[in-house]
Amino acid sequence: MLGAQLPAQGAPASDAGESLQARAARRGLIFGSGVSWPDIQKDPEFRGAVLADCAEIVPAVEMKWGELERREGVAVYAAADSLVEFASTNGLQIRGHTLVWYRNLPAWAPAALTGPSGSAVYETHIRTVLEHFAGRLASWDVVNEAIWTPDGLPGFLRRCVFQQAFGADYIPRAFSLARAVVPTMPLYYNEFGLEYDDQLHSQKRHATLQLLSDLKSKGLVDGLGVQSHLHVGWGFDAQVFRRFLADVAGLGLQILLTEFDVNDARAPADEQIRDQQIADHAQRFLEVALDEPQVKGMLCWGLSDRYTWLNSPPYDRADGLPNRGQPLDAAMRRKPLWNTIAAALDAAPRRHSGRAAGNSR
Ligand code: XIL
Repeated sequence: MLGAQLPAQGAPASDAGESLQARAARRGLIFGSGVSWPDIQKDPEFRGAVLADCAEIVPAVEMKWGELERREGVAVYAAADSLVEFASTNGLQIRGHTLVWYRNLPAWAPAALTGPSGSAVYETHIRTVLEHFAGRLASWDVVNEAIWTPDGLPGFLRRCVFQQAFGADYIPRAFSLARAVVPTMPLYYNEFGLEYDDQLHSQKRHATLQLLSDLKSKGLVDGLGVQSHLHVGWGFDAQVFRRFLADVAGLGLQILLTEFDVNDARAPADEQIRDQQIADHAQRFLEVALDEPQVKGMLCWGLSDRYTWLNSPPYDRADGLPNRGQPLDAAMRRKPLWNTIAAALDAAPRRHSGRAAGNSR
């Protein structure tokens, strides 16, 4: 397989000091990043940076339905398999992301899901993908971003094709099928917009707790993925967020920060000032997040500014400057944000549980 043929090491531009994964491991945590296969494959410098700092990866797009099955019935696993192989060759864990998401669907899927064979299409997708990767992944984001309170639907659900086809039941159905197909796999619900102190985030926290509580009462969920897409300048209330994490933990669930990065669109252009604002903002968040013992790890969404998704509209800066929201800059050098993450990991209370992010049942 391609993954196995790649050189395992490529020196990152700056390699002094202990890596983020080593610091995390000392605390019983796991550190990693979302990555895309083409970037890993073509860029030895990025590959080296990932291998230096990460103990876990997650495919940024490669396991989404729209990537796997562009033509109905013709599954193409090459890129996803290459990442799985890369992880296994290099001793990294790899998460599955994501089985049910309203975005990145194949063009044919909406009509198929809402048609007479909709149920079979839905279940075949979930079962086939789970079976394909069975035994090779550390956890799965089974359902992603199902809540959107402004849509005004019961359960605060997002108006989307799954909800249209099967009602609110599409969520427990996905989890219960996943349980049946891969019984020992830790199953996560993954969501954004949980971090800040505004009305939308407050409603999303409330709705997410309700959904998790319902799923957990049926034994269907093991963890919450808090995406952690941060934004410089947004209002963060440490007490509110601490309380939310404690409530999730109180349900008996594990928590992962699954897609950490810091959007700097509201920060000034000056790089030094910007980097400091990014680091300060992240510090306030991480201090709270990593203090909750049920938070078992943290994954960045890209690791380096070279490949961040934050430069695409609508997330990009008005002045057109590239975003600096990842711990490594575009030249793979460590930035103040890297140091902040390192210090936050060092300061985290030691976790005593065995394997990070395991199935909690
Ligand atoms: C993003 C990827 O990074 C992009 O490359 C892709 O075009 C769109 O999806 N929340 C998620 C991730 O759960 O899957 C998204 O990833 C970012 C937001």
